[in-house]
Amino acid sequence: MGNSPYYSVRMRASLGGRHVSGQERIVKKEELERTILELHRRPKGEWDLQNIKIERLKTPPVVVKKSLPIRDYRFSCARLAQSFAVGLLERVGVNRERLRELVLQLLKGFKNGENLPGAIFVDIETGKVLDDTGTRTVLFDWVDRQRIREKLLQKGYTERTLDALALATKNFFCGVEAEFCISDDPDYTTGYVAVSGIYHRLSPLKEKGRPFGGRLYFVKEKKLKEIKNCLRTVPVLIDELNL
Ligand code: COA
Ligand code: AMP
Repeated sequence: MGNSPYYSVRMRASLGGRHVSGQERIVKKEELERTILELHRRPKGEWDLQNIKIERLKTPPVVVKKSLPIRDYRFSCARLAQSFAVGLLERVGVNRERLRELVLQLLKGFKNGENLPGAIFVDIETGKVLDDTGTRTVLFDWVDRQRIREKLLQKGYTERTLDALALATKNFFCGVEAEFCISDDPDYTTGYVAVSGIYHRLSPLKEKGRPFGGRLYFVKEKKLKEIKNCLRTVPVLIDELNL
């Protein structure tokens, strides 16, 4: 990896104060200009404010050798997928009824009918919400993003999987025991459950046209502070897919 310092490049675009696009990279100095342009061009729709932050990392990124392995599941309807997802999460300890409630709440807009800007922490033992301020996992990327992107696309996955798989892999590295994710994009119905070190990709996890989604991070309460700190401050690069 050499001695050259790494930079975090983070882009966020909004329209009328509403978030429309966010993406980030961890790159070396020589890749900065190309990366800034790529992120600038990233939002598909309209925006009136775009913020691109470039920060030299104080510590070199931790390299995680392999991503979580992917398993794919297709269902005839979202309800079946949700029930399967609840079953996967139930195995690690949370009560089925409580899991159902949490999933339904996400599908209605978790807090006052709105999406949160980040994840909700849930106690893996009791199902109690520990923190619903909306924490975002940041500072993650692939060692060679382009190569991994091509591999995933070749296998029929989307660019979204590239980002979501990297995010879920960082979460696992930081000690998140299980994750449930539904996109808030009304046109994107695939979601996932990451549990026991496996990324279960479920289609469709919600009905088309629904504008609500979110992420639930199941953690041990006593590790909450340490996990949040890792998610926000430890840079992680993932080297290889685990297909
Ligand atoms: N929805 C709503 N608001 C969001 C948001 C989202 N998805 N992402 C960021 N924001 C808001 C934050 O709430 C924050 O608002 P505040 O200033 O009122 O607190 C603001 O944007 C800045 O967020 P922050 O994380 O502090 O800024 P950043 O510039 O360091 O990083 C991102 C911005 C979007 C790059 C980063 O938050 C992120 O999410 N990175 C991961 C992106 C990614 O790959 N996601 C793939 C998911 S599959
Ligand atoms: P998306 O997969 O981008 O459609 O995001 C789905 C939901 O996940 C959003 O509504 C947020 O609540 C949450 N989210 C988005 N980005 C992050 C992140 N970086 N870390 C944690 N949660 C996020």
